[in-house]
Amino acid sequence: MSRPGLFITFEGIDGAGKSSHIEGLAEAFRTQGRAVTVSREPGGTPLAEKLRELVLNDAMDALTESLLIFAARRDHLRNVIEPALARGDVVLCDRFTDATFAYQGAGRGFDLEVLSNLERMAQTGLAPDASLMREPDLTVWFDLAPDVAAQRLSTARVPDRFESQPAEFFARVARGYADRAAAAPQRFARIDAAQERHKVWQQLTSVFVRRGWLAIMVATQGGPR
Ligand code: TMP
Repeated sequence: MSRPGLFITFEGIDGAGKSSHIEGLAEAFRTQGRAVTVSREPGGTPLAEKLRELVLNDAMDALTESLLIFAARRDHLRNVIEPALARGDVVLCDRFTDATFAYQGAGRGFDLEVLSNLERMAQTGLAPDASLMREPDLTVWFDLAPDVAAQRLSTARVPDRFESQPAEFFARVARGYADRAAAAPQRFARIDAAQERHKVWQQLTSVFVRRGWLAIMVATQGGPR
């Protein structure tokens, strides 16, 4: 019998280091015989990637930004995420709706009720079960103090419209993630992202081992370089 799909999302403020671990995790799942789809938001389809470019580079108000992000999300769900879950894939998605609540909601101060309405509109009415609101099975939250994240980012690439925000913005975003995690403790797994890379990898794999989604041996490996 084929195994059911798994929808796993990765969240955290910019600089928390989540993206570099996603490929390692994909490899661990593949080694254990699972088909894996790796994707990201905003983005993941040709249309959603065009919307990503606009959202990350063009000035706009918070409602316009939220509408574009949820439009990208719906296209991504329809064309990539739902078909992959229907095939039984493990879907590893770098950011999803918690990022909208953290960045547009907590960071920019946009109305959380409007975001909840947009969430419902964008994430329901999808095959195979139109009545279901699609949500992640698990959200891995890379928790890192904003000042540490800012230090890490200062040596990284040219900042986009969000990465160039002031420290207070990231403090609000971090609180936004903490609020989301407190509201859905079953769905969230918190990772202490301040630790050394191999320790972050250990924490990460043990989350999956505890849920029975990866075999124990993976937790003892060194993780991605
Ligand atoms: P990334 O650099 O992790 O790919 O994310 C792109 C930026 O987009 C990041 O700064 C967070 C931001 N973002 C939002 O503001 N709202 C969202 O819903 C998502 C998914 C990302």
